[in-house]
Amino acid sequence: MEWSADLEIGIEQIDEQHRRFFDFVMDLRESDDTKLDEKFEFLKNYALEHFDAEEAFMEAHEYPRLNEHAQLHVDFIRKYSDMAREFLEFGSPGPDLDSIREMAETWLVNHISGADADYAKFTREKRSENQ
Ligand SMILES: [Fe+2]
Repeated sequence: MEWSADLEIGIEQIDEQHRRFFDFVMDLRESDDTKLDEKFEFLKNYALEHFDAEEAFMEAHEYPRLNEHAQLHVDFIRKYSDMAREFLEFGSPGPDLDSIREMAETWLVNHISGADADYAKFTREKRSENQ
């Protein structure tokens, strides 16, 4: 799988964050290290800074499906928090590299190339109308 122009929103900050997530997923595929705390740390920081940036951008463009989209972000944070809590409480055996990998892959395929691509298309059209 490669990063492609279809995944670009056209806003540097957001694209840069998406690409970082993409690299994270690619690294996870190769990785067999067990520093799960670093993976959780990445996901937390990503969710905090990236979802805010996206939602502000969608709001500025009056994206009509903002609420549904924001709900998907909430679901991600909930899932992440459950896993992180379980990890902190139980350590091993708890969430493992496979479960993080699966979560991140699913997010990349369903969300970044699905829901995010939808608002990207919407805002791109809107911006070209306004030019
Ligand atoms: Fe999103």
